[in-house]
Amino acid sequence: MQIVVFSAKPYDRQFLDAANAAAGSPHRITYLEARLSPETAPLAAGAQAVCAFVNDQADAAVLEQFARGGVKILALRSAGFNNVDLVAAQRLGITVARVPAYSPESVAEHTVAMMLSLNRRIHRAYHRVREGNFALDGLLGFDMFGRTAGIIGTGRIGLAVARILAGFGCRLLAYDPYPAAEGAALGLEYVGVEDLLARSDIITLHCPLTPATHHLIDAAAIARMRRGAMLVNTSRGAIVDTRAVIAGLKSGAIGLLGLDVYEEEGDLFFEDLSGQMLQDDIFARLLTFPNVLVTAHQAFFTHEALTAIAETTIGNISAFAETGRALHAVSTEKLA
Ligand code: NAI
Repeated sequence: MQIVVFSAKPYDRQFLDAANAAAGSPHRITYLEARLSPETAPLAAGAQAVCAFVNDQADAAVLEQFARGGVKILALRSAGFNNVDLVAAQRLGITVARVPAYSPESVAEHTVAMMLSLNRRIHRAYHRVREGNFALDGLLGFDMFGRTAGIIGTGRIGLAVARILAGFGCRLLAYDPYPAAEGAALGLEYVGVEDLLARSDIITLHCPLTPATHHLIDAAAIARMRRGAMLVNTSRGAIVDTRAVIAGLKSGAIGLLGLDVYEEEGDLFFEDLSGQMLQDDIFARLLTFPNVLVTAHQAFFTHEALTAIAETTIGNISAFAETGRALHAVSTEKLA
């Protein structure tokens, strides 16, 4: 098949080319740096497959252009699919495929790296020591051992986080409408979300972005949290109401905040904007807090994860070319 890849970075090319070659080079791949939008969608005309990433917007206008241009499959190189209008895709006969599982450990390990960095102020200590400041004031942390961590969403990534935190000796609370069978063996105590917020020293988000989870962490949720608790979000930005979180940081309700995702990250992340003026005042305010650590959606960014993403993406497209069905098609039932 002819595949057009949007938002393509050098590492996407490296791993997708390798996966295509390993499969016997069945596909011709064109790489575009452009993000997918109604303006760039016509660039896919003539291709049967489009490959997109988390900040590519596959709304109805984009999908209609795809359908007119002959695109049959949209292969996401992500697990999340909140950026795709699945109803429009179904109406237009475009199969949407994704990579449901690619090294959940990649995201889980980054999540715990953020927890440890925030807790022990590694992000501040790094700069201090380089400037000859060896004072410890302001760097006081806490033992993870014995602390209570609340995991919201115990799917693949949430459970991987639970396994690591169990190793630290954390007490584990969990909230998920569909509790995991292996939860008990890991020592997870399933509770209601309000109970989890009230009892956790560390709250970590691993649920998908859906209408039910949009702004799950809002002003009311923050008011229920233990004062000074740590909040980490490596899931999807809009699960957290950023304005409410800024208010929580200012009041001290939130003691430490780690974000790998941000509501409006589409205009920022994955690009080098260091020579430009930051236009997003809310994001700029977040960066002023010493107790906030932001990474630019890099939790998935490991060798193992990129290999798995590329192999599954090529596998999805190859299966679709051969049988008319992707290996991991997203159905509209997932909307629920
Ligand atoms: P998964 O599908 O294995 O698990 C998601 C879990 O969330 C399920 O157990 C589900 O029952 C639960 N859930 C659904 N609605 C919920 C709600 N209202 N409250 C609490 N839990 C709820 O997904 P996986 O692989 O664990 O990924 C989780 C999320 O992590 C993805 O949806 C994606 O948005 C994000 N992600 C972020 C990455 C990054 O680089 N920062 C990379 C990969 C995924």
